[in-house]
Amino acid sequence: MSQLEELLAVWLPRQRWFSGKGIPIRQIRIESRHTLVSAGLEGPDLTLLIIKTGQRGHDSRYQVLLGSRPSRSLPADLAGAAIGVCQSPGGRPRVIYDAAHDVQLTAMLLERFAAPSGAGRVRFRTLPGERVRTGSAGRMLTGEQSNTSLVFGEDYVLKMFRRVWPGPNPDLELNRALSGSPYVARPCGWIEADLPGYAVPTTLAMLQTYIPGAVDGWVLATASAEKLMGGSGRATETSFAEDAALLGRTTAEVHRSLARTLPTDVLSVTAVAELADAMVERLAMASAEVPELAEHAPLVMEAYSEFARVDEPLPIQRIHGDYHLGQVIRTRSGGWVLLDFEGEPTVSVRERRRPSSPLRDVAGMLRSFDYAAGYLLVKHPGDEELEWSARAWARNNREAFCRGYADGGGADPDKHLTVLRAFEFDKAVYEVLYEARNRPDWLRVPLESIAAGASKPPVAR
Ligand SMILES: Nc1ncnc2c1ncn2[C@@H]1O[C@H](COP(=O)(O)OP(=O)(O)O)[C@@H](O)[C@H]1O
Ligand SMILES: [Mg+2]
Repeated sequence: MSQLEELLAVWLPRQRWFSGKGIPIRQIRIESRHTLVSAGLEGPDLTLLIIKTGQRGHDSRYQVLLGSRPSRSLPADLAGAAIGVCQSPGGRPRVIYDAAHDVQLTAMLLERFAAPSGAGRVRFRTLPGERVRTGSAGRMLTGEQSNTSLVFGEDYVLKMFRRVWPGPNPDLELNRALSGSPYVARPCGWIEADLPGYAVPTTLAMLQTYIPGAVDGWVLATASAEKLMGGSGRATETSFAEDAALLGRTTAEVHRSLARTLPTDVLSVTAVAELADAMVERLAMASAEVPELAEHAPLVMEAYSEFARVDEPLPIQRIHGDYHLGQVIRTRSGGWVLLDFEGEPTVSVRERRRPSSPLRDVAGMLRSFDYAAGYLLVKHPGDEELEWSARAWARNNREAFCRGYADGGGADPDKHLTVLRAFEFDKAVYEVLYEARNRPDWLRVPLESIAAGASKPPVAR
């Protein structure tokens, strides 16, 4: 292991975006290294590293933008980004660090998009007709992110996909397919690389227009739910239903665009039964680990059996795949924009690119409304009146979202309750496992949804 690899082995597990936390890194190797900025002896230099880690027999790849300067320490504003000190070939020490924090280097990254090139192993590409405005530095978005996004002034966001899966990234692929839609942030360019051993280029980053002044859907929804704390008659005092309905409508519009531009298919009744089998397997696995879930397993099984008996083919297409309130933003003009089409992060990109039922996204958002209400209950346990209001809040928004989805031309959720219910249970079962392992206080949120029956037929419209 080189000195740099040793330093990275200590630094990587501490990064928010590192997906293999808590499991020892048995192997680490810098798989490829690309110089992006070379300022010579005086630094700073910028090198793109693709790092392969081996943990418990599984290999993963990550990208790191490595900054380096000819000194032992960094200026105060960069001190938190330090990875360590290495000896350069000439014997002089160089401090190495996460260059995503270095405004001088991020500004140079943007400049590379202004002079895109189709040559070399790492390429900065732009969409036809795109003229990138330079002159701003990229500042890292704060907040809970699974990738690293740099915001350049009010112009662009450069999202660096930290976990690298060889091949095209679905976020870029779907955003490009939706280019021109008012419901996505316009894609402008991307960084791709030829990685050793792969015939097709791998997407490393995506440049999109930045939408200034937009607010995260989760922030808006939880703020609305929070107002339920205000006193008696609480359920009626706060409503998110108009936003939820518009979100439903927007979701349907995006699904329709995706179905127009990317392949669609139908799942045969046999394939639907197989899908149900996979759900049953996940339920069995989760019930074995979480006894509280086992209690409700018969109810969930019943929904899966009904799903397995669905006797009409199920339309499938490309979908968002990891759809929840944290993946949508409300713009200053009050419309919704969908972000982050990378899909379910725990499965391989090959699987994520497979068409699926758009009702899976609907189920994802319905779960998210339960979570926004659940957030309040986790913070204020034991308040029965609040519980009642929070449930009513979630129910209203779920219904409004479904209504908006049908009005926007999506498959009417009311008419596909068997399918929707199976998808929603499947998602909740996944959440149960996640919460049991990571946030036991939250375990009640998916469990209570499951106990309540998930996607019960909504009140007649
Ligand atoms: N184009 C954009 N305009 C404004 N805000 C954005 C944009 N892209 C991302 N964001 C903000 O960054 C957050 C994380 O972006 P996202 O693409 O979901 O990254 P991750 O894959 O890390 O979840 C979003 O929830 C949103 O608040
Ligand atoms: Mg996201």
